[in-house]
Amino acid sequence: MKKILVATEKPFSKEAVDGIRKIVEESGNELVLLENYTDNQQLLDAVAEVDAMIIRSDKATREVIEAAKNLKVVVRAGAGYDNIDLEAATEKGVVAMNTPGQNSNAVAELVFGMLISLVRSGFDGAAGSELRGKKLGLHAFGYIGKLVAQIANGFGMEVYAYSPSLARNPKLGEEFNVTAVQDPVMLYEKCDIVSLHMPANADTKGSINYEVLSKMPDNGVIINTARKEVVNEADMVRIMEEKPKFKYGTDIKPGNHDEMAEKFAKRYLASAKKCGAQTAEANMNAGLAAANQIVKFFQTGDETFRVNK
Ligand code: 3PG
Repeated sequence: MKKILVATEKPFSKEAVDGIRKIVEESGNELVLLENYTDNQQLLDAVAEVDAMIIRSDKATREVIEAAKNLKVVVRAGAGYDNIDLEAATEKGVVAMNTPGQNSNAVAELVFGMLISLVRSGFDGAAGSELRGKKLGLHAFGYIGKLVAQIANGFGMEVYAYSPSLARNPKLGEEFNVTAVQDPVMLYEKCDIVSLHMPANADTKGSINYEVLSKMPDNGVIINTARKEVVNEADMVRIMEEKPKFKYGTDIKPGNHDEMAEKFAKRYLASAKKCGAQTAEANMNAGLAAANQIVKFFQTGDETFRVNK
């Protein structure tokens, strides 16, 4: 019998936890639950005896991985795995996985929720603008980017995207009615609105900086449902000061949130707590996928969604 920990500072829905429990217990294993924790020590204590763990944006740091002396597998129930110390996992022989695509639709829908709120001035009655006919740029074109493109087509937007996968496979652009651009900067030059969908890594951190933002029109909009680290926060302030109609919507509160909220009240929107993947459906999809991946890993050694070497 393996001990499988679900450690979620931001918990899954009850239905998703019940579903995870069923998968874990029906496969003869034990579920350990740590929800709403407020202190890293609680996580360190919870991992001490477990063989596997499911996390969301919870930080699987080197300290956590080393404290989990029996840990064989950690699954990030979601897409981005920048919260796992992959080097530490590999050194300790721990397999790290994600559950790609499982929560993408929730994030894609939120893009439009934030976008409409921003272009309609927070629903305060002031004249706003419409999406139809606007040029939307997708910075990265993975599971979420593709879903955003489909919804944008429904709104009658002109969709552009930058991604190495599009460059490799021009048919993909046709399939999604998206025009591929060869250089990410072209997105910012061409589009009224840019939605960010890249992971946070050494190449992307701070990459949405003054140089690219200044290419956008004066009333440009950036929507960030990716990671706060990809945006250069000081440069965003500078652009919003220089362009009094520029808008920024983010699902991940930036480090300078208070300054942004004070200076740009109607043009800046940030979720109170990251909620892109926080729907009943996404919780079920990602949570159950994570549990199934762990069970399969222990039963057959399956490492299909492994993200570390
Ligand atoms: C992801 O990478 O899957 C999303 O950012 C969702 O993160 P969350 O599980 O913390 O809501």
